[in-house]
Amino acid sequence: MKNITVIGAGQMGNGIAHVFALKGFSVQLVDVSAPALEKAIATIAKNNERMVGKGTITAEEMTACMQNIQTNTSLADACKTADLVVEAATENIDLKLRIFADIDANAPEGCILASNTSSISITRIAAATKRPAAVIGMHFMNPVPVMKLVEVIRGYATTDEVANTIVELSKKLGKIPTVVNDYPGFVSNRILMPMINEAIETLFQGVAGVEEIDTVMKLGMAHPMGPLQLADFIGLDTCLAILRVLHDGFGNPKYAPCPLLVNMVTAKKLGVKSGEGFYVHTPGSKELVVSPSFK
Ligand SMILES: NC(=O)c1ccc[n+]([C@@H]2O[C@H](COP(=O)([O-])OP(=O)(O)OC[C@H]3O[C@@H](n4cnc5c(N)ncnc54)[C@H](O)[C@@H]3O)[C@@H](O)[C@H]2O)c1
Repeated sequence: MKNITVIGAGQMGNGIAHVFALKGFSVQLVDVSAPALEKAIATIAKNNERMVGKGTITAEEMTACMQNIQTNTSLADACKTADLVVEAATENIDLKLRIFADIDANAPEGCILASNTSSISITRIAAATKRPAAVIGMHFMNPVPVMKLVEVIRGYATTDEVANTIVELSKKLGKIPTVVNDYPGFVSNRILMPMINEAIETLFQGVAGVEEIDTVMKLGMAHPMGPLQLADFIGLDTCLAILRVLHDGFGNPKYAPCPLLVNMVTAKKLGVKSGEGFYVHTPGSKELVVSPSFK
C-alpha cells in the first residue's frame, strides 16, 4: 500500500490524511469545498509545528509529511491510482451511498474502500458498490493524531483478507485496531451516544447546568472530558445523525434524540466547528466558557 485517498477534509479527514502522510504514504485529500481543503492543510501544518515543538517529530519529518499530501476537488481524479480510499465526508447515508458508487466507478481493481462513518451500516454502504467484499469500516477517533483506537468494522461481505490488511495497516500507523461487527453505532457510538443524549436530556429537564453535568462525569466517573464538552468536540450535527441511525436501526425509543439537541443543530450551534454549542469556543483559547444560552 502506497497511495491513500481521503474523501472529506473536515476535522476527521484532515487528521486521517495527517497520520498517513506522517508514515510516508502518498495522500490525496479530497473535498467538494476548496476552503475546507485550505483549512485542512493549515490545520495539519499547525499540528505538525506543535509536534516539532514537543520533539515528537523532527523538522525534516514535518517537511516530508507536508510534501506527501496533495489536495483535489475531483474525487474521480484522486481515486485513479489509490490502493486504499478512506471516506470521511459528512455523516449522511444518501451522501455516503453516492460517494461510494463514485469511488467504485473510479478506483482500480484491488483497491480497498473504507469508511470512517460513526454509525452508518458498512453492509449498506458496501451494497452501493460492485465490490462489497472490499468494503470495510475504518473508524478513527477524534483527534486522529492523538487517539490510539481504530474501530475496524466488518461488513456482511468483508473478507478476512481485507480485514487483516486494515488491521495491519492500522498498526503501521501506530494505532490499536479493534475488530467489531456491523450493527448500528458499532460498539463505540452504541455506548457513547446514549450517554451524551442522556446528558443533554438532563440539562433539558433542568436537573443541573452544563458545568455541573460535566463536572459530575469528569470527577465522579474519571472521564477526561464531560459528555457535553465531548459532544461539542464531536459536532452536535454528527451526534444527532448518529442518534438517528441508532433510533432507526434498533427501532427503540431509548435512542430518540433529545429535542434540545435537535433545536441546537437547527440553530447551527454545532460545537467547536461553528464556535458555539454547550460552550463558546474561541480559537487558541483552552478556557471552558459556558454558552450564554445556558447561563
Ligand atoms: N467528529 C468526530 O468526532 C468523528 C469521530 C469519528 C468519526 N467521525 C465520522 O467522520 C466523518 C466526518 O466527520 P467530521 O467530524 O470530519 O465532519 P466535518 O463536518 O468536519 O467534515 C465533513 C467534510 O466532508 C465534506 N464533504 C461533504 N460532501 C462531500 C463530498 N461529496 N465529497 C467530498 N467531501 C465532502 C465537507 O465539505 C466537509 O469538509 C463522519 O462520517 C463522522 O460520523 C466523526
